[in-house]
Amino acid sequence: MSGAKPGMVLWFTGLSGAGKTTTARALLEPLRQSGLQVELLDGDELRSVISKGLGFSREDRLENIRRIVYISKLLARNGVTVLVSAITPYREMRELARRELPGYVEIFVDCPLEECERRDTKGLYAKARRAEITHFTGIGDSYEPPEQPDIVIRTHVDELSSNVALIMDYILLKAGRR
Ligand code: PPS
Ligand code: MG
Repeated sequence: MSGAKPGMVLWFTGLSGAGKTTTARALLEPLRQSGLQVELLDGDELRSVISKGLGFSREDRLENIRRIVYISKLLARNGVTVLVSAITPYREMRELARRELPGYVEIFVDCPLEECERRDTKGLYAKARRAEITHFTGIGDSYEPPEQPDIVIRTHVDELSSNVALIMDYILLKAGRR
């Protein structure tokens, strides 16, 4: 293990289409500019790599999150600031992440289902409504809203830039740089 100061793990949870990936990506550059080493682990992306073959049953989602927690732990303990964007719909999963990751910061990407469905960036809500996809979060599968998130951003109300600024302030304050 390196002597590096453990990194934070900024965990973005929320419905599909809420803005998890977009917000996490927008933070990469400002975080790097502030001198941090950063990695983004995106659930949707990892499902074609380390979580290939996993579906959306409760067990498969849990397994997906267990894997992401494991990689996050390795990175964070070597000083990397980790951004995770994954739906992480069940409380049990977020409790696991909080328990396992000392630098865990929960960011609830709050956006009403109706707005996510209106955006339908990938056409998945329409497919779920037509029952072409089962177990779709918010339609055929539950999303348990976080009870005590560290940060809440409301992507249907606030601009991306102000959400990024809010999260940057939180991180820099916590890292003792402000
Ligand atoms: S989870 O529940 O945390 O394991 O999900 P995650 O790894 O973040 O994967 C979510 C992305 O998979 C696509 N997709 C679905 N999401 C939810 N439910 C079902 N049934 C489903 N099928 C496919 C979708 O593109 C999600 O990406 P995001 O970025 O959240 O829109
Ligand atoms: Mg995404």
